[in-house]
Amino acid sequence: ALKIATIGGGSSYTPELIEGYIKRKDELPIKEIWLVDIEAGKEKLETVGAMAKRMVKAAGLDWEVHLTLDRRAALKDADFVSTQFRVGLLDARIKDERIPLSHGVLGQETNGAGGMFKAFRTIPVILGIIEDMKELCPDAWLVNFTNPAGMVTEAAIKHGGWKKTAGLCNVPIGHRKQAAEKLGIPEDDLFFKFAGINHFHWHRVWDKQGNERTQELIDLIYGPQEDSESHLKNIHNAPFHYEQIKDLGMLPCGYHRYYYIEDEMLKHSIEEFEKGETRAQVVKETEARLFELYKDPNLDYKPKELEQRGGTHYSDAACELIASIHNDKRTDMVVSTENNGTITDLPYDCVVEVSGPVTAHGHEPYNWGAFPPAARGIIQVMKGMEETVIRAAIDGDYGAALHAFTINPLVPGGTMAKTLLDELLIAHKDHLPNF
Ligand code: NAD
Ligand code: G6P
Ligand code: MN
Repeated sequence: ALKIATIGGGSSYTPELIEGYIKRKDELPIKEIWLVDIEAGKEKLETVGAMAKRMVKAAGLDWEVHLTLDRRAALKDADFVSTQFRVGLLDARIKDERIPLSHGVLGQETNGAGGMFKAFRTIPVILGIIEDMKELCPDAWLVNFTNPAGMVTEAAIKHGGWKKTAGLCNVPIGHRKQAAEKLGIPEDDLFFKFAGINHFHWHRVWDKQGNERTQELIDLIYGPQEDSESHLKNIHNAPFHYEQIKDLGMLPCGYHRYYYIEDEMLKHSIEEFEKGETRAQVVKETEARLFELYKDPNLDYKPKELEQRGGTHYSDAACELIASIHNDKRTDMVVSTENNGTITDLPYDCVVEVSGPVTAHGHEPYNWGAFPPAARGIIQVMKGMEETVIRAAIDGDYGAALHAFTINPLVPGGTMAKTLLDELLIAHKDHLPNF
């Protein structure tokens, strides 16, 4: 029987997770679900936790749902530990978005200056969780959803030494659905290969007859007559430049907009900033509405409104990964995992986000090989930036932090990098014990 602990259990995404377990009740012999949060998230935990209990009961299941602020009690003998926490909650994200934008620099949850600061706040916490896991559940799998998921997963595997870590994101799931829809072919009849790093990956697609359909999809999704639709609620729909994507020869992920059409995205973000409507501010209102719904003692299913959040369908990743490990199902999934030569352009010991079956012993990535030069150049810069961010987060090293800011493609180097870094360090000082 399984014990699953979820850190950040007060998240509004928790019903998504519970729904995913219920859907897989025949493959997951769950006995206990432990939702853990901290004092600041206690009210959210109680509200969404009561909702989780109602969902389990409505499904006729006898799973125990425990709500606790005691992380150690939750971790004790856990089989799976999933993480979905946000250090400093949405108020910290508002600062990550608004402070850079107040200087005319892109501010985003997982990219640019904001993404690097989310890593600075989060990496010490994940390493603390791993220290507890070494003592309390040494055989557990760590299923990391906490952003920036790529850097947090790399810190867990490479620096925390927790090899049984899988990093997850819902973005690839959306791209799979989008390809199936555009081609009019069932998703299961298509073969996908994703490669890159979290929120910075590309993919290629083949059909059952073995024909590659990537260029056709580029035309269908990003062609001159198309409107370049983004399936992500949190990313503005600005169109990519078709000729450039065609030259790329791979399908970009939605987040590539911040890099390939940076000025358009910045312009739009500044408009949101001026209206007081950056994404975190909008999400704060969505979250408040969701928690009002969750308070309804008759609500015992995941409400449609949760689709307003960017992480919708997240359980298709988290719960399926757990089911696939537990049953050695070998479901083809996209996971942030140790590179080990899968992408030859990147270090062996770094974490990459790639496709492959999930077995009882973890993810077995398909070999990808090398990228074309234009993609190789930028991903090597991005990975070097990530490695520098992780080092800065662990050592609290100001020079490393400044270096990461300087090389991040979304932060102008020089004086601006330093100004922004200094301002963010002050704004977030309560959540940066290492600096
Ligand atoms: P949220 O603001 O609701 O935070 C979730 C919970 O984490 C809160 O209840 C909070 O109190 C708790 N928390 C904060 N610090 C904690 C700590 N040290 N220990 C335990 N709990 C703590 O956030 P959310 O919008 O639900 O998102 C949660 C996380 O998941 C974020 O990091 C977000 O970026 C990430 N996320 C990732 C993906 C993905 O694709 N990987 C998708 C959606 C969300
Ligand atoms: C998803 C990303 C997540 C991100 C979320 C933001 O698409 O995969 O990593 O956290 O969007 O959604 P939100 O509703 O919080 O803006
Ligand atoms: Mn993601």
